[in-house]
Amino acid sequence: MIPTRRNVCPETVAVAFTGASGMPYGLRLVECLLAAGCTVWLLYSQVAQIVARQEMDLNLPSRPTEVEALLGERFGARPGQLRVFGREEWFAPLASGSNPADAMVVCPCTMGTLASIAAGLSQNLIERAADVAIKEGRPLVLVPRETPFSAIHLENMLKLARLGVVILPPSPGFYTHPQTVEDMVDFVVARVLDQLSVPNRLMRRWGDAETGSGSESEVESEAEAQGRALDDRVRPAVDAATGAPVADVLATAGRNPLGGDR
Ligand SMILES: Cc1cc2nc3c(=O)[nH]c(=O)nc-3n(C[C@H](O)[C@H](O)[C@H](O)COP(=O)(O)O)c2cc1C
Repeated sequence: MIPTRRNVCPETVAVAFTGASGMPYGLRLVECLLAAGCTVWLLYSQVAQIVARQEMDLNLPSRPTEVEALLGERFGARPGQLRVFGREEWFAPLASGSNPADAMVVCPCTMGTLASIAAGLSQNLIERAADVAIKEGRPLVLVPRETPFSAIHLENMLKLARLGVVILPPSPGFYTHPQTVEDMVDFVVARVLDQLSVPNRLMRRWGDAETGSGSESEVESEAEAQGRALDDRVRPAVDAATGAPVADVLATAGRNPLGGDR
């Protein structure tokens, strides 16, 4: 396994957006890294531009300098704190092991880019920067998005995990009782920042009471109360005419309540 530099907040973090669903994670990550004072070197694939438009109505220009201006202003970056590089910008510092970022995150990460990294292809600057991170023993976090995973995806992830790459699927926990999509995004981004040793308070930690006092019994009773509230919200829907659970009504009519007729 490669040695990785943990527990040191990185000065420079490379972030790559690729064309998988989950662009809100990537953007929030960049925002939080900048707010934490890190320098961010941003890379993005062509399909990431499509996904940004499709998921967030965000037009990521093809010129890196324009993306730098757009996101720099949006997130209030200091001059030089956000640098954006093109896919074929081979003279960018992170193309070489002599000047890599302190850490790198691919978020969201497609199965295609993940496979290329696992195979060491280095066909564009994202793949090359990841290859450099692995060979130089810098923390590399991939946030892969696909469902279900095929055996190909799983084998690629296992290969990378064995090299010390962190495979961090965007799987928000529900034990924090998220109320908004932003809460769920922050859950995932917090876990990425944790891997990078960037201090953050984006999510309530397991074992910490909302009141802040944090004794075990208080946490437990609060969790119980919230559990009851959740139970109320997920009670089965009831058919207005008969009062029977909707799932039973659909099943009697020969229709699968999970979608699709039997
Ligand atoms: C709107 C949209 C959503 C996509 N979502 C995913 C996804 O969640 N996971 C994935 O692996 N590929 C997804 N793809 C397919 C990849 O973008 C495609 O395989 C692409 O070639 C990956 O290139 P890249 O890794 O250089 O971005 C999506 C494509 C589009 C247009």
